[in-house]
Amino acid sequence: MRHTAFAALTVALVAFAGAGGFAHTGATGIVKQRMDSMEVIGKSMKALNGMLRSDETYDIQRVRALARTIGEHGGDKLTALFPGGSMHKPTRALPAIWTDWDRFSALADRLSDSAAALGAAAGNERTPSGSGTTRAGSPQPGIDALSAMSPEAVFAHMAQTCTACHRDFREKK
Ligand code: HEC
Repeated sequence: MRHTAFAALTVALVAFAGAGGFAHTGATGIVKQRMDSMEVIGKSMKALNGMLRSDETYDIQRVRALARTIGEHGGDKLTALFPGGSMHKPTRALPAIWTDWDRFSALADRLSDSAAALGAAAGNERTPSGSGTTRAGSPQPGIDALSAMSPEAVFAHMAQTCTACHRDFREKK
């Protein structure tokens, strides 16, 4: 079970490890806007990863600020960047977004919920060994339950949300 958890997290980490080096070349309009927005999310995740999963100094206020940034780019803000039919190149958005909109927007909400929970959990007892990670596909605990977890555990849930959405709604490279 541990292994599954780490495998899931690794996949998620790959999703933002490269933040900063994206080919937005040629992207315009709403597609560029959402790529830029995702890149901000990606950079914030990377910075959080540095504090939560490597040995960078842990700074509660910085964790809160980064979580706030991610939260501000989730939920309705995220879904607003996906108006129907906005599929022009070089987008990797899949048509499933619009045929399975309820699930897509639920994942967008889940992102902002877990970001809010990370802000609340930033000062909780830490579990640097990585315990508290969950299996991909396991149901998302509510915001109160998440807020009571270690920041590492909340981070793992958030990373899982990225993976879940990208798996179903973003074209593979
Ligand atoms: C609700 C769905 C959803 C969630 C949640 C989500 N993403 Fe995305 N993400 C997308 C889609 C769809 C694209 C492709 C957008 C496009 O190419 O038009 C994308 C693209 C990206 C990109 C590439 C941007 C570029 O420059 O092309 C990065 C980086 C990224 N996401 C990081 C993240 C991270 C990190 C998280 C979690 C903290 C996350 N995303 C959560 C749907 C989501």
